Amino acid sequence: MTVLEIAAPDDWHVHLRDDHMLASVTPYTARCFRYALVMPNLVPAICSTAAAVAYRDRILAAAGPHARPDFQPLMTLYLNDALDRADLLAGAADGQVMAAKYYPAGATTNSAAGGSSLLAYRQVLEAMAEAGIPLLVHAESTDPDVDIFDREAVFLERELLPVLDQVPGLRVTVEHISTRAGLDLVRANDGVAGSITPHHLTCDRSDVLANGLRPDLYCKPVINSREDRDALVAAATSGDPSFFLGTDSAPHPLSHKLASPARPGVFNAPYALEVVAELMFQCDALDRLEGFVSWHGADHYRLPRAGSTVRLTRLAEDETTPLDEVTTVDGQTVTIFGVEAARRWRWEPLTEPEQVGG
Ligand code: NCD
Ligand code: ZN
Repeated sequence: MTVLEIAAPDDWHVHLRDDHMLASVTPYTARCFRYALVMPNLVPAICSTAAAVAYRDRILAAAGPHARPDFQPLMTLYLNDALDRADLLAGAADGQVMAAKYYPAGATTNSAAGGSSLLAYRQVLEAMAEAGIPLLVHAESTDPDVDIFDREAVFLERELLPVLDQVPGLRVTVEHISTRAGLDLVRANDGVAGSITPHHLTCDRSDVLANGLRPDLYCKPVINSREDRDALVAAATSGDPSFFLGTDSAPHPLSHKLASPARPGVFNAPYALEVVAELMFQCDALDRLEGFVSWHGADHYRLPRAGSTVRLTRLAEDETTPLDEVTTVDGQTVTIFGVEAARRWRWEPLTEPEQVGG
């Protein structure tokens, strides 16, 4: 039996939604992760500090009885024309806002309020660089002439590199990296880090397309080639502090996942830790798990590493039948990613975390 102890993990990219969906999915994040960096792509988008603070209160109210005592949602603002620079700076200075997120309009779920050019926000970006506020980027070109599997690389080339060049000192996270191009950009630029999801680490596009279409694996940026997946695994198991876990857990009702067009997003919060632990186990790299899920993100965001620990145990027999879906109070079903890994792993908080503000 394999047993290991690691500092409590953090999730550096999560969608918790609102209302009934928020109530159903938030407890899974809150029971496992200490920090959760919460994405602002609600409708309407979270564009002000006041909206972010109100949303954080709703998240904390939904965290549930099994939440870690130190569970802390960290809030982000949606970078678009409605964002007020002074409000962002004040919210960040107050510790209410962690970062601003840029979505190219039309690239993904609830991105209609996004931008058409990252450099158009140059003044905000310069103020963020000066104040040390990180920019989070959904790196995906929306140019219809660009092949879907090349859109990350093209966005980085056309949109992010000019910004890195012209706004020195800007701290950036390339979110949910899906290709070698994303990894290479992070490695080549100081102050730029990358989040990586459990599903991009464990699936490639053949899993999505080859044996019957898998809408449950459809997400943005799309899961890419086998070579890209191998490169992501190499980065996550390398110990490079520029890479860390962001689950991109993005719940959608099954009815929306099965609709045409299907909605992009994978709901993985319940077993994200198990999926990454099993991957590291299979790669003989369990000694890299703690850095990837517990240390590197905290270091990038200049927050303390968790003092409390979690014990993970790999079971010899896959004897259990983990839950494979959740149902909201209004009757929507949401499919859970990672059930196979959940058969293999158990985890429990080991040292009692300190209560936030306690
Ligand atoms: C996310 C969602 O559903 O909010 N979907 C996804 O496929 N990842 C949005 C996003 O992060 O792109
Ligand atoms: Zn996301």
